Amino acid sequence: MTIPVIDFSKLDGEERAKTMAQIADGCEEWGFFQLVNHGVPVELLERVKRICSECYKLEREEGFNSSTPVKLLNDLVQVQSSEKLENVDWEDVFTLTDEDSEWPCKHPEFKETMTEYRHELKKLAEKVMEVMDENLGLPRGYIKKTFNGGEGLENQALFGTKVSHYPPCPHPEMVNGLRAHTDAGGVVLLFQDDKVKGLQILKNGEWIDVQPLPNSIVINTGDQIEVLSNGRYKSVWHRVQATPDSNRRSIATFYNPSLKATIAPAPELMDPVIKEAEKAYPKFVFGDYMSIYAKQKFLPKDPRFQAVGAM
Ligand code: OGA
Ligand code: NI
Repeated sequence: MTIPVIDFSKLDGEERAKTMAQIADGCEEWGFFQLVNHGVPVELLERVKRICSECYKLEREEGFNSSTPVKLLNDLVQVQSSEKLENVDWEDVFTLTDEDSEWPCKHPEFKETMTEYRHELKKLAEKVMEVMDENLGLPRGYIKKTFNGGEGLENQALFGTKVSHYPPCPHPEMVNGLRAHTDAGGVVLLFQDDKVKGLQILKNGEWIDVQPLPNSIVINTGDQIEVLSNGRYKSVWHRVQATPDSNRRSIATFYNPSLKATIAPAPELMDPVIKEAEKAYPKFVFGDYMSIYAKQKFLPKDPRFQAVGAM
């Protein structure tokens, strides 16, 4: 079983209806799908991969080797424990947003390349969101407008990029690359390693691999799309397994609501006669959701929805 692979270029031709249906299926049945021919230039993707890996090697590897997960794992191994570390991830992370004044990596090509990459990915995210609008029967631009709460910078959608490396792990059975979770925000565009697998999603109670496919972009939907779609598009549990002998690179770009944006199921998708007490999802401000998520990321999402609904 593998997640759907969809040719995004077919959206603009004779096979538009079929492609729209494939994306609807990816959103409704999987929560994860891969796009090929997505329009982001391959030359740019090649540069992003090379430069992010060089950044890790030059500026981060040494720090990772003396990081908390490495120390904790060493300690466990030394006492010959058979426990698994449940409170850390075997992951190196650096993040980028438009608001950062300082870039997290000094590589001479990093700034230009990542700026270009993020520009391309933002266009792709907005196109994917429009497809979701149409598939859900919402006015075009509905998701984007909801995530961009209003005028001014503080109301602008949060567009962030997280560059992750999952370095080789001597005991992958004793720690997760990234513990199981659902994503908090809106739409996630993941540019994963060409060869090294590790990302898995939970489907019908079974963990299945998100198969590496060079230069494809994996799309998945977060908790806010689940709320906005009134549960039509569920945010799906996923995790990264640690690997013994490779360094897996994965670059996740998030199109999330502004912290001030109000999130609620779209009225068009609500049963018109439903009683308040029977509503599946509350209405809330995304910043409040994030303060709960920060403490409960690796726990089930329903208590998060209940907690933010009670605020
Ligand atoms: C995440 C995530 C997967 C990966 O950052 O939320 O799920 O492959 N990342 O790094
Ligand atoms: Ni995730």
